Amino acid sequence: MDRYAEQTRQKFEGWDEFSARPIDEKLDAFNQNGRIYDIIFAQQFDRAFLDRMCHLADLIRQLARTRAGQFKLRHLLPHKRAMLYFVQPSTRTFLSFHAACHILGLSVSEIRGTSTSSEVKGESAEDTIRTFASYVDMIISRHHEAGFAEKTAWVLNQTHRPVPVLNGGSGPDQHPTQALLDIYTLEREFAHIGGLDDKKIVMVGDLKRGRTVRSLSYLMKNYQGVELFFVAPEVFRMKDDIKEFLDRHGISYAETEDFESVMPMADAIYMTRIQNEYSEDPASEDETFPAFHFKRDHLPKIQAHCALLHPLPRRYEIDVNVDKDPRAAYWRQERNGMWIRAALIAYIFRVEKEIFDEFS
Ligand code: CP
Repeated sequence: MDRYAEQTRQKFEGWDEFSARPIDEKLDAFNQNGRIYDIIFAQQFDRAFLDRMCHLADLIRQLARTRAGQFKLRHLLPHKRAMLYFVQPSTRTFLSFHAACHILGLSVSEIRGTSTSSEVKGESAEDTIRTFASYVDMIISRHHEAGFAEKTAWVLNQTHRPVPVLNGGSGPDQHPTQALLDIYTLEREFAHIGGLDDKKIVMVGDLKRGRTVRSLSYLMKNYQGVELFFVAPEVFRMKDDIKEFLDRHGISYAETEDFESVMPMADAIYMTRIQNEYSEDPASEDETFPAFHFKRDHLPKIQAHCALLHPLPRRYEIDVNVDKDPRAAYWRQERNGMWIRAALIAYIFRVEKEIFDEFS
């Protein structure tokens, strides 16, 4: 396989130059007619877009409460087909996108490993994605390679049959739709205390390789007065590119290894696991870093409204005995992913108006 992959590695004219640009200078390449077309980076989302998606997700879940509403939703996009190309393991992102497609009536095809596609015969990932575009109207991908979704969307946009590419996670760099569902969750959890503006968010764990905290940090530029606290062991501190971004946008942040010291003032605590699948030697990383776990004993230390989040899957970062506490928002968070991804698909295929009209 590696032998073929090396032989068939393709060189696209213009890609190296495009790829080297700062992200802010790439965003237009993934828009069409003034709208977002491919979902590649969290930086594509501005406040108006985030507010619109959160509102749309609320309306979709409200409609889905009745059979008549479900029927209406299912008949919005029965003429569209989606490809779920998930060649890196996933439970939530895969299933929530799958369910979101079904809610809106799309039919879905899936590939969950390169061993069952013609990549095993040496077909390049770019040709594979181009092949999907011959059969479907949207591609949602999860891949172990950083920049995979960006490159395949860019390649498709040079062809006569581009289709939207949605990044369901590309290596350790970005997970924009997770960031979207995290924003939706924070806005819902804080609905009774003025929303996400002016809140203190504590991010804990492997901040160096956790793509969810990276993408979520980018989105904080859209909110007023947010303060971030990065709590990580020395080896997993947030990388400089994110800190430079926060400095550039005037977003306040602090770093500490003393988790308990920041618990009492947190409005939300966002836990993450150690991402040792990206380690060159995972066995060397059997350290569990218990000082960065949230335990049942910590519950009395946090505020009554503090939301506990985790993108999941978890290992041991949050004691299962915390799950029953009403502040444990992570199970609500994963379900929110289905509704906000349905909103995103409705936006991509321009059926938002039909949904808004149901409430006018
Ligand atoms: N949060 C998240 O991306 O979960 P999965 O890896 O299960 O999709």
